[in-house]
Amino acid sequence: MSKQETKAAGSTGKAYKFEDHKFDVVVVGAGGAGLRAALGMAEQGFKTACISKVFPTRSHTVAAQGGIAASLKNMTPDSWQWHMYDTVKGSDWLGDVDAMQYLAMEAPKAVYELEHYGVPFSRNEEGKIYQRPFGGHMQNYGEGPPVQRTCAAADRTGHAILHTLYGQSLKHNAEFFIEYFALDLIMDDDGTCTGVVAWNLDDGTIHRFSAKMVVLATGGYGRAYFSATSAHTCTGDGGGMIARAGLPLQDMEFVQFHPTGIYGAGCLITEGARGEGGYLVNSEGERFMERYAPSAKDLASRDVVSRCMTMEIREGRGVGKDKDHIFLHLDHLDPAVLNERLPGISESAKIFAGVDVTKEPIPVLPTVHYNMGGIPTNYWGEVLNPTADEPDRVTPGLMAVGEAGCASVHGANRLGSNSLIDLVVFGRAAAIRAGEVIDRESAIPDINEKSCDKIMERFDRLRHANGGTPTAELRLTMQKIMQEDAAVFRTQETLESGCRRMDEAYKGLTDLKVTDRSMIWNSDLVETLELENLMANAITTVYGAEARKESRGSHAREDYVDGPFAGRDDENWRKHTLSWVSDSGEVTLKYRGVHTDLLKPGIDLAKIAPKARVY
Ligand code: FUM
Repeated sequence: MSKQETKAAGSTGKAYKFEDHKFDVVVVGAGGAGLRAALGMAEQGFKTACISKVFPTRSHTVAAQGGIAASLKNMTPDSWQWHMYDTVKGSDWLGDVDAMQYLAMEAPKAVYELEHYGVPFSRNEEGKIYQRPFGGHMQNYGEGPPVQRTCAAADRTGHAILHTLYGQSLKHNAEFFIEYFALDLIMDDDGTCTGVVAWNLDDGTIHRFSAKMVVLATGGYGRAYFSATSAHTCTGDGGGMIARAGLPLQDMEFVQFHPTGIYGAGCLITEGARGEGGYLVNSEGERFMERYAPSAKDLASRDVVSRCMTMEIREGRGVGKDKDHIFLHLDHLDPAVLNERLPGISESAKIFAGVDVTKEPIPVLPTVHYNMGGIPTNYWGEVLNPTADEPDRVTPGLMAVGEAGCASVHGANRLGSNSLIDLVVFGRAAAIRAGEVIDRESAIPDINEKSCDKIMERFDRLRHANGGTPTAELRLTMQKIMQEDAAVFRTQETLESGCRRMDEAYKGLTDLKVTDRSMIWNSDLVETLELENLMANAITTVYGAEARKESRGSHAREDYVDGPFAGRDDENWRKHTLSWVSDSGEVTLKYRGVHTDLLKPGIDLAKIAPKARVY
């Protein structure tokens, strides 16, 4: 199936040898979404490849701790309608209603499938899947009390899911291309995606994959910021590929800060810690969340808790020598509970903060955690290339799932544990849809040589980049800009400054210096390719944020706080931002409407109508 040929690329005329492959489906990324999609494709008999720049079980999903949301009703009353309501409210009414309904309705099925595949969930006394409370998840359409909806495997849920899905994918003969870095999408002149080019880091070979369907499952771009819970591999590679293919990104201004990153280190302390009874205190020993969110308290939604913590610090009630963080107490909890339900974070607190959680509080700070925005898709994961006349126009041959995609179920703010369920529900949906749209009889597309030449020219240019700025230096510049100017709180001034500074930083891409020219394990070049991807994500984030003149979810503008919805402007801004970025870094913004219609009957639309968002 695979043939070899040699082609010259780039101004240096360097020759690259290609190995060509043909697959029905190529999945890029082997986290939870990528593996669930690959498994679903392979189960249906599609010849499926999964390309990953890291060993699959090292994908960032492995770090997901607290759990996966589904209305199983194992511990408290619950329903998919309540889950949907919480997701709509959590999104601050920016999520697409059809996608959110699909998520909430399909979640139990997707979790039971995981159980049957072999995920070792923790158990309650009846032997059913254990579920814990999580922020923003409530009973009775938000009225409360908190619902126990988050299914957990101790505090290592992502780890358990990832290992199970990898094993199942192998069982169904998905073929893995491990430590291959995807360079770019192969696009036909008519805008159809027909494959992807990847670089095998281990032996330096270049691989051209032709496919009837490419699925991007490349994760988020947390590393555009200085301090993030995300792995160093979370570099928005899918978003970079989409931007270079001339396609738009969506809602990039919405960046989630997790309330409890370990102060200094940034490592995640799961919201499950508060779900199990942990609470936050300021320097006065006050449980301040009771003041801000009298009903949900420490289990208010993440954007709310992060803002409250930031306000406490700003007002001089932070803890520590510099009064610049907050304490999370778990020391009142039964050590047996900590040992059984939260062993992972007990270990992280010891290693990264030197804290024994049975005796002392953990120093924590809101830390970049998740990107609500990404590649626009419908609820099947099909990538959209909207026009004014056709806002839901599909890009043939291309899907995006997981954090890379934007269906959009999280809108302006994601609820904790709605990420893992997003991965498996939409990874699964992509496979179901592929089963409907892929013509099994048709031939796998031929390689578009013109598209590949362009891809290799870029690769060769970066490989031989000989400017004055080391990649690490420009990356740090970008990370500092994002951290300072597109933070928990934003103003017109900080965002304009962010745009200006990111414009400058983007120009720096033309002055990069790569010192290693080799093709084998060239981490200098990998980081340079990743930096280009990060930049496309970062610049669209700050431009989208500057343009959005309201406060909504994680996009908290201090200059938009008035009105019944505290700065949210549904009349003018209940719409998705679309952003295109040119090779030279010019950003073009357009907008598309939020889907407000139900997928099917089952919930009264009046129940999820926009209103003030209080917890
Ligand atoms: O806090 C956590 O365990 C993170 C969960 C999530 O982001 O969904």
